[in-house]
Amino acid sequence: MEDIVLSGIRSTGNLHLGNYFGALRNFVKMQYENRCYFFIADLHALTTHPDPKILHENVKNALAQYLAAGLDPEKSTIYIQSDVPEIAEMYLLMNMHVYVGELERTASFKDKVRKQPENVNAGLLTYPSLMAVDILIHRATKVPVGKDQEQHLELTRRFARRFNNIYGVEFFPEPQNFNFGHDAVKVPGLDGSGKMGKSEGNCISLIDEEKVIRKKVMKAVTDEGPKTPDSEMSEPIKNLFTILDLVSTPDTVAYFTEQYKNCSIRYGDLKKQLAEDILKYTLPIKERYADIINDEAYLRKVVTCGAERARASASATLREVREIMGIRKF
Ligand code: TYM
Repeated sequence: MEDIVLSGIRSTGNLHLGNYFGALRNFVKMQYENRCYFFIADLHALTTHPDPKILHENVKNALAQYLAAGLDPEKSTIYIQSDVPEIAEMYLLMNMHVYVGELERTASFKDKVRKQPENVNAGLLTYPSLMAVDILIHRATKVPVGKDQEQHLELTRRFARRFNNIYGVEFFPEPQNFNFGHDAVKVPGLDGSGKMGKSEGNCISLIDEEKVIRKKVMKAVTDEGPKTPDSEMSEPIKNLFTILDLVSTPDTVAYFTEQYKNCSIRYGDLKKQLAEDILKYTLPIKERYADIINDEAYLRKVVTCGAERARASASATLREVREIMGIRKF
């Protein structure tokens, strides 16, 4: 059976290296051989950023950046989540089989409760149900995402299994993360701790100016350098090597690893090389973005056509879900 691939992003800011290497790069590679869906999760964005003045602008920017980074509307169905009302209906139905306790235990929910205690809304709690519906509504089998989304994917599989068990059907497949045989990627931030993330303020955006990227990389947190050949690498240095591994050639990585091991490494040189190699990825994307963002007609065409195709697939699934659950017409 053909694989159905789906991935998405919240529309809360510019695309960064984490989004690119964690998810998008794989998706782009897969779009030529599978039925692919890619969408901008603007409803998810409402759980944390409900600002009508910037919502649309953010969606548009995210869309243009994704197109610039290689999504091909001829190959993939590209759409905006809120353009597919079937998702909202299925989210309501799915929530009847999702338990408050399991949602409260989700790491992302606990994290948001810490970060926005003044706005612990029900949308935040049911974020994983909506994400599961995004995936299940196309009965997707492969979902290329970064490490940070793995728990959500695990919940999606659990909801799919539960639905199938309750109704005695084999309707939803259990979607898997897909990273060409490798573990899911976690791109670290430049601040020496944690992942690169929009809300962490430690990102390299794909549309940052060249000099901004160089400056951010040169300011990345380091340590005092290895004292002995067997020194354990500190977190900030490991992080720089993790990013180097993604953007540089194996020779470059081997060169700096050797320099680290023999204690001759100069972090300034490592950072210069890192900035150089990051720019090889980002500059072409930034250039394409500058053209695409001003082409309103093209953007409209992409999402109109995407919504039509996504709705065709979503409504077919919803029709069956309603039938399975016993919702029938007179
Ligand atoms: P979001 O918008 O935070 O990120 C979009 C994609 O980028 C990946 N990502 C990372 N990967 C590695 N390292 C990082 N530092 C990093 N930061 C972000 C994410 O894993 C994700 O794949 N809930 C999702 C959006 C979503 C979705 C979906 C994704 C809604 N419904 C259905 C897939 C399928 C989110 O907030 O991703």
